[in-house]
Amino acid sequence: MELRALQTGVFSHPEFDTHQTIQFVSDAASGLRAIIAVHDTTLGPALGGCRRWRYDTEQDALTDVLRLSAGMTLKNAAAGLDLGGGKAVILSDGLEPSPDMWRAFGQAVDHLGGQYITAEDVGTGQTAVDLISETTTHVRGTSAKGLGDPSPFTAEGVFAGIRAGAKHRFGADNLDGLTVAVQGLGNVGGGVAERAHQDGAQLIVADIDPAKTQDFADKLGATVASVDQIHTVSADIFAPCALGGGLNAETIPEIKALVVAGAANNQLAGDEDAERLRKHGILYAPDFIINAGGVISIALADEFDTADKMNARVARLGDVLAEIFVEADNNERTTQDIAVAHAIERLAKA
Ligand code: NAI
Repeated sequence: MELRALQTGVFSHPEFDTHQTIQFVSDAASGLRAIIAVHDTTLGPALGGCRRWRYDTEQDALTDVLRLSAGMTLKNAAAGLDLGGGKAVILSDGLEPSPDMWRAFGQAVDHLGGQYITAEDVGTGQTAVDLISETTTHVRGTSAKGLGDPSPFTAEGVFAGIRAGAKHRFGADNLDGLTVAVQGLGNVGGGVAERAHQDGAQLIVADIDPAKTQDFADKLGATVASVDQIHTVSADIFAPCALGGGLNAETIPEIKALVVAGAANNQLAGDEDAERLRKHGILYAPDFIINAGGVISIALADEFDTADKMNARVARLGDVLAEIFVEADNNERTTQDIAVAHAIERLAKA
């Protein structure tokens, strides 16, 4: 499939913001086509995962990497890490990538000399990260060093955030008797569903992969919803754990849950959607706060060097969110506004 070319410039792209470096990478031998975006290195080298996805257009790939990269600046700043924001996307052709493609990507990362540190994201598993580490040291989450796959820690943090939302909105100390709708049962969404189930929640799940929904129906008694309808189901909490942009003018009025708390990056289609959620009485856990567990596990692996210690560290995201919820209520502002203000304050101080 030939991708349609970029329709806008790069500097004039609506999501360009204040990006420092954007590197377009091509390696004909392995078929690699990638974009690496470094948004901001004020707090340190830019850390953010590498997403491999089958984009419809080159425009979509550029938009995705720019939004994800800027989001990492906020996420790393808000999480108190001495790291800047960056991200990479690999334009998939739908075929299984060769080991050489990952090695070529590692070389491209290496050429940036440590300005960008890569890690796992959607479409990039442990094997890929290990192959990338053959050609660059600027990669985290390898099986040889640290705590490995960050996804379980992301799931732990999202679960803590869901609980904080349940406490704030329903006064509940756990999820017993509450219904959680999980959109996307991948590495993170699957872990979130399991934790919510253990905590007493009823589950409604959706995934484009029917084998995954069947698995969760069988092992956890989850009800399966269609991919188009999962945001509309009668649930107390909606956890978007697939891709971004799912909270928009069309979907928000259809959401019945009173809490939205999930792992996906860039859940809000636009800035105005935070206010739209607030107006609909929906408590929103800002994505870049609630899903910071993975990046924390990568950045602080030396200090919190066992899974138990790291889970305890990551669970503190629930406390961070609880404070954001209260501050937003007291000031009649959106939770997103409050969270962004905290991150920008830290960047400004630096
Ligand atoms: P994954 O690739 O393991 O899982 C994504 C799941 O969503 C897959 O099961 C896929 O089939 C499903 N899916 C895709 N489109 C869908 C749709 N329209 N409706 C329902 N299901 C759909 O990815 P992972 O690692 O679980 O990440 C999930 C989200 O969390 C992504 O947005 C990612 O950027 C974000 N995230 C992940 C982190 C991590 O540590 N893995 C860290 C922070 C954010």
